[in-house]
Amino acid sequence: MTIKNIRLFGDTVLTKKADEVRDFDKELQQLVKDLTETMLEAPGVGLAAPQIGVSLRVFTYCVEEDKPGHLINPILQLSENRQDGDEGCLSIPGLAFNTDRSYGVIARGKNMYGEDVVIEGSELLARCIQHETDHLDGILFVDRLDTETRKLAMKSIREAEWFGLEKPIVKVSPHDTFGLSI
Ligand code: NI
Repeated sequence: MTIKNIRLFGDTVLTKKADEVRDFDKELQQLVKDLTETMLEAPGVGLAAPQIGVSLRVFTYCVEEDKPGHLINPILQLSENRQDGDEGCLSIPGLAFNTDRSYGVIARGKNMYGEDVVIEGSELLARCIQHETDHLDGILFVDRLDTETRKLAMKSIREAEWFGLEKPIVKVSPHDTFGLSI
């Protein structure tokens, strides 16, 4: 088991655009394994490689229990209809805010063996895929909030006990974000 430290808001790797994966090698397969294990242990429903300090376009997700998946070099096609709902992030522990997202998504990319993959999802899976793909572009969910909510979010972040630390001292209960840490 390789559980990696999850990088927190303020770490520059989280605001950087991640690189395309070109080599579908053993190292990449290990990265997918580490991401999956770290996500499940957290627990979270998604985790992007920059969140463990690797600036590559890779993320894992686990929306249906015990069925983790991953996607590499994703390209998204978003539905026009929208969804509302609380969203959290493992890099911003303990906080969740209402975040507007597309209701559905078709995500095209590769698996860790370099094969073409298409994932079609709605509701939480679609939210998760949009959130993780944002991570690969250096965008955090707080960047997607409306002005008022974003102000509130930034205040909460500055006041959070983990802010400015490398990792949280206290393990945050998954219930704080209603299991929506992605
Ligand atoms: Ni996140």
